[in-house]
Amino acid sequence: MNDLATPLSAFAALLTPAGRALLDEVRGTDPARELAVATRLRREHPAELVSAALGQERLRQRAVAKFGAADAGRMFFTPNGVEQSTRASVASYRAGRFRELGVGSVADLCCGIGGDAIAFARAGVRVLAVDRDPLTVAVARANVEALGIGELVEVREADVADVDVSSYDALFVDPGRRGGRGRIFDPEAYSPPLSWAVDAARKAPVAALKIAPGVPHEAVPGEAGAEWISDGGDVKEAVLWFGAGSGGGLEGGSVRATLLPGPRVLDGRGLPDPQVRPVGRYLYEPDGAVIRAHLVAEVAEEVGGGLIDETIAYVTGDELRGTSFASVYEITDQLPFGVKKLKALLRERGVGVLTVKKRGSAVEPEALRKMVKVSGPHSATVFLTRVGGAPAMLIGQPVG
Ligand SMILES: C[S@@+](CC[C@H](N)C(=O)[O-])C[C@H]1O[C@@H](n2cnc3c(N)ncnc32)[C@H](O)[C@@H]1O
Repeated sequence: MNDLATPLSAFAALLTPAGRALLDEVRGTDPARELAVATRLRREHPAELVSAALGQERLRQRAVAKFGAADAGRMFFTPNGVEQSTRASVASYRAGRFRELGVGSVADLCCGIGGDAIAFARAGVRVLAVDRDPLTVAVARANVEALGIGELVEVREADVADVDVSSYDALFVDPGRRGGRGRIFDPEAYSPPLSWAVDAARKAPVAALKIAPGVPHEAVPGEAGAEWISDGGDVKEAVLWFGAGSGGGLEGGSVRATLLPGPRVLDGRGLPDPQVRPVGRYLYEPDGAVIRAHLVAEVAEEVGGGLIDETIAYVTGDELRGTSFASVYEITDQLPFGVKKLKALLRERGVGVLTVKKRGSAVEPEALRKMVKVSGPHSATVFLTRVGGAPAMLIGQPVG
């Protein structure tokens, strides 16, 4: 079957009535049974089409975590596309911000399989979605059609450098951050490079650039507002905003942490580093977005606390104060680091379920859990960290 030999032609075959029927037939296939299902289906269908359908079903199953079962089951993916796409929760939050800024149309440069374009369209924003990879473009087109938003989204195959975006209200760029050997950390090695995206953003009335959350703060241009976004406690991305000050505080030089679900929004106030103080009754573990945004001082001020160590992003205080930006633990014990000491303490307390957290320690949580082998009716959390420069263990319980 030469006509199914390339990934693009195999994908096109999936969109035919025969391909769609096969996709329906393999829906929900348990990966462990793939081989048996493939052998059976190959008796009646071309082998390449069977492989394409099973491959697509596998990607749909992987995509459920990002897009939810209903959308993932109707959408199409490539392996890179599912990996690199923005999860729906983050994309729809960001699209909502565009709406608040009065954006009616956006050029989504580097659209991938359409994770962001879909969210923009669903927020009522008209989209030009651009990608240079032909298969990715075909998949993005199939997605907007499958989700019934084709009227609002034009998908175009082009290099972003060749696209005139002057007629759009806003620009969104999510550069490729994967090379042949995995993730790229240098923003100039993104495709297109961050400096290209920043130049394009400066010319647009409103722009947002999605970048890796580990970006050094020094790489943020002065006229951009920087936002770090987490979802369910996992940091997902940083966004550089241009021209976004009027719609609620993301003007140049500003720093924000946004926690989903919510959104719970913490804006930087330029506070100095918090004081280091002795470990108090409560330990506050700031959300990763707060830490990446360098807003631990804002949380420390909110809870009336200080740092346990000048190099560690744990906040401690004597009073229990509610905060949306940190998990709170009541600390019962503080010990110098030592497996024997920990074992003895956990045995004495009857701890059978141990959660290990660490910051500023080289010890592997899993290895420690194996070494202490707990048993008993109670649970506890141990923090492996540093206090006053020395390796320490703080033992406690989550509050609330
Ligand atoms: C991180 S992905 C985009 C994911 C997308 N925002 C989503 O949520 O599905 C980056 C995309 O940029 C595309 N790309 C990289 N360099 C490009 C260029 N110079 N012109 C057009 N597309 C490009 C890649 O093909 C890839 O699909």
